[in-house]
Amino acid sequence: MSAGDGPSGTAPLIERDADLSRLNTFGVAARAAGLARVRDLDALPTVLDAPEWRDRPLLVLGEGSNVLLTRDFDGLVLRIEAQRIQQSHWAGDDAVVRAEAGRGWHDFVRWSVDAGFGGLENLSLIPGTVGAAPIQNIGAYGVELAACIEAVEVYDRATRGFDLLDRTACAFGYRDSVFKREPARRIVTAVRFRFGSDWSPVLSYPGVREELAARGVVSTSTPADVSDAVSAIRARKLPDPRVLGNAGSFFKNPLLPQAEADALVARHPGMPRWDAGGGRSKISAGWLIEQAGLKGHREGDAGVSAQHALVLVNHGRASGAQLLALARHVQGVVHARFGVHLEPEPLIL
Ligand code: EPU
Repeated sequence: MSAGDGPSGTAPLIERDADLSRLNTFGVAARAAGLARVRDLDALPTVLDAPEWRDRPLLVLGEGSNVLLTRDFDGLVLRIEAQRIQQSHWAGDDAVVRAEAGRGWHDFVRWSVDAGFGGLENLSLIPGTVGAAPIQNIGAYGVELAACIEAVEVYDRATRGFDLLDRTACAFGYRDSVFKREPARRIVTAVRFRFGSDWSPVLSYPGVREELAARGVVSTSTPADVSDAVSAIRARKLPDPRVLGNAGSFFKNPLLPQAEADALVARHPGMPRWDAGGGRSKISAGWLIEQAGLKGHREGDAGVSAQHALVLVNHGRASGAQLLALARHVQGVVHARFGVHLEPEPLIL
């Protein structure tokens, strides 16, 4: 029996009136009516069916790195803390590895590159857990998680049973998935990754190539080299949530029809844009915010990072409501200046 498990060894104790301030990377103050920490996945149905909680709202938190809590939560917060990693089998020359949802994301990426598996290295140092990663299909430096997913294991609250969704059923998109579209339904319990034997590094981002060149390993780079390079870039570019509360990118990069992007670039020649396929262009929300004069802007302790304009930060005691007010202000100023709507990336509660 581990700490936090109940007398039976499987049914976790539910903490009442729990403090969530250390359970969200913004570090905002909020409380939950109940908090269950589940280390044994088999105990999940018992927790969810407990008479006191089953009809109340449920919030699943990993490391709380993609959520903005703007009020107390009058329901049950669930933390999956199961962390095992197993190489389950080989599929031809590909390795299939299963990691439980509570494992720290970067910890799992390092496990994979240290085992010699390539595919996740560009996603190094992203805060959060393995279980949170498929929800918004995390992506960075030219790679999206979806590319390495074999299947996602879930507990389905609609059918009250465990289920397995293959990659197609997950319906991944840019920072999007079936889990994000139907948030209350499925709880991710584990993720099955597929690592191909035909790995080659994804070096589409100039910054990654430059960092590897500085380390003298561009043409000979291993997954671990790329992971080190990406970690170094992120550590330089993005504020560390352990030092300054934040949830990474607060807004998605807008996807616009080609003609709309053309018109914007004609008016603002320096504006970065990328072809996103399907007749659409992706434009840089960070650039829009910086050009609107908001980089480093503060309203009390709620701020736009001075390091990276796409990140909102808590300079100390900002409340979730103050951060949300700042986000609305950023949306308003960017819309007035560019006519573009910025959509928040984290879950706003
Ligand atoms: N830019 C600015 N000012 C800023 C920041 C960025 O002008 O303060 C412009 C620059 O022109 C820069 C461009 O934006 O070249 C792109 O910036 P960056 O490479 O940092 O990437 P991003 O588009 O802002 C996205 C992801 C990040 C991911 C990076 C790298 C989204 C919403 N964000 O940011 O993901 O790390 O690319 O691939 O897609 C996250 O989701 O939390 C996250 C950090």
